[in-house]
Formats: sequence, C-alpha cells, structure tokens
Amino acid sequence: MTSAATKTDKAHIIVFGNEKGGSGKSTSAMHTAIALARLGYNIATIDLDARQGTLTRYMQNRMNYSDETYHKVPLPPHRAISQSIKENTAEQKAEERFFIETALYELTPAHDFIVIDTPGTDNHLSRLGHSCADTLITPLNDSLVDIDVLARIDPKTHEIVQPSVYTLMVEEQNLQKIEDGGLPMHWIVMRNRLSRQNTKNSQTVGRILEKLSNQLGFELVPGFGERVIFRELFLKGLTLLDLKEEETPLTLSQLAARQEVRQLICAIGPEKIKGYAKPPTG
Ligand SMILES: Nc1ncnc2c1ncn2[C@@H]1O[C@H](COP(=O)(O)OP(=O)(O)O)[C@@H](O)[C@H]1O
Ligand SMILES: [Mg+2]
Repeated sequence: MTSAATKTDKAHIIVFGNEKGGSGKSTSAMHTAIALARLGYNIATIDLDARQGTLTRYMQNRMNYSDETYHKVPLPPHRAISQSIKENTAEQKAEERFFIETALYELTPAHDFIVIDTPGTDNHLSRLGHSCADTLITPLNDSLVDIDVLARIDPKTHEIVQPSVYTLMVEEQNLQKIEDGGLPMHWIVMRNRLSRQNTKNSQTVGRILEKLSNQLGFELVPGFGERVIFRELFLKGLTLLDLKEEETPLTLSQLAARQEVRQLICAIGPEKIKGYAKPPTG
C-alpha cells in the first residue's frame, strides 16, 4: 500500500496507533495536540476512529467549554473521517484513501503538525493512517497482556517468539514509506496507566519492553501514570496543559501528570522537526 501522504508531506504527521482499544490513544493524541499548540505550533487533528469518535467529542467538548466560559483555549481545526459505506471493497478503499488525501491536502500547507487518532482495530483506514506517520506513538497499558500487541512472548523465558501482526504492519508501512522516498518513521512506544506501586509485574513489563525496543526498533518512553485527572478532563474538553495554576492550585498528582505530558513532547522533539515556535501570547 503506498503512503497516503506522499503528495502532501509538508506537515509532520504524528499518528497514535495500537490495535487494542482503551490503551490511551485518544487521550494522548488530545494532550499531544494541545501541548504542541500551546508551544506555538500550528496544529490540526484528524479522527480516523469516527465510529467511536472519542477525539471528535473531546474537541466538541472543548469548543462548548470555550463558548460557554469565554475562556480562550487553542482550538485546532479538526476532521472526523468515517469508514466508507460503499459496498464494493475496492471502491471502499479508494474512497477512504480519497478522504484522507483530501484532509491532508487541505490541512498540510498551513500546519506544522497533524495529529491523527486511529481506531483500536485493524481496518483499511487505520492502515492508511499508519502509512502517513512520520512519528508513530503506540500507547500501551502497563500489563503483560497488552505486550501481546507488539509481540508474542515466551511465558517462561520472556524471549520474543514472533512479532505481532500489528508490528509486522508497522514494519510494512515503514518500508513502503522509505520506498516512496520518505524518511523512516520514528516509532515511540509509551507505557500508559503506570501504577504508582512498582510491582513485580510492572518491572517485568519494563524489562520485556526494553528488550523489544532494541529488537523492534522503537523508542520506549515512560508515558503517563494511572491518574483520574486524565478521565475527568474529557467532559470539559480540557487537557493538563490548559489548567492554570493561578486559578486553581494543581495537586501534586496533576503537576506530575503535566510533567509526563511534557516528557512525551520531548520524545517527539518538535523543535528538532520544525524549529522553535513562538508561543502564543495571552
Ligand atoms: N493515564 C491514564 N490514567 C487514567 N485514565 C486513563 C489514562 N489514559 C487513558 N485513560 C482513560 O482510559 C479510557 C480509554 O482511553 P482512550 O484514550 O479513549 O483509549 P483508546 O483511544 O486507545 O481507546 C478513557 O476513559 C480514558 O479517560
Ligand atoms: Mg480512541
């Protein structure tokens, strides 16, 4: 499959992907988009999981919050792309490719970064989304079960038995991107919902992921802890980067969560990709 972004690759595309639902794709996509916007970059977002529509609703909630409270918050332009309902598979695929290419064509010239959220299932839209990734971020719940999305692991030795279908799909999209003349994608895996207790299970997950990171070629970053604030902010459409300390003092957990988001942004390295942006005033 050729990359859907080959004709319009001016903006740097950050894709959030993991074939498992509930791993934190939409939450981290929203936080990344707003953190980058607050740094002064021009951001647009695309939801390829329009059926679930979490990122789309997050953005709607944000718009409502801004309208109702008159608080000026960055509101990146957003597109929701649904699966094609054409009956014929070839036509379906062609239409979905057209949807994505059109959105990228419109959004790319005026934006530094486009943040794309993908569904937690393997479908054509998700594959197309992955094929556009300059940076791919895979949030992973901190459990041995969730590692399965990257590779099958021998339960006794914890050695890799074989890469997962998802990993093979990522490798395939990456090779295609290089063949099309693009740069290799930067694959980041972030642990999500890390428990504050450093349990034996969590240590084992860490060790396996370190090993996988060397063998599969992704960068492993610490990610977000298990924190209620990530769930609470959804209804207001806000992120941790929107909370102003002068209005309500942040709790230690909220400050730590905000730091975790900043660490993810450091791993993306926007200044290396687009140079330093001029933060918005006010
Ligand atoms: N670090 C976290 N701490 C607490 N809850 C989280 C965290 N990350 C995600 N969640 C919650 O987990 C659920 C699934 O997250 P979501 O971002 O929708 O995952 P996905 O997009 O991969 O399906 C949501 O209710 C979200 O608020
Ligand atoms: Mg989602």
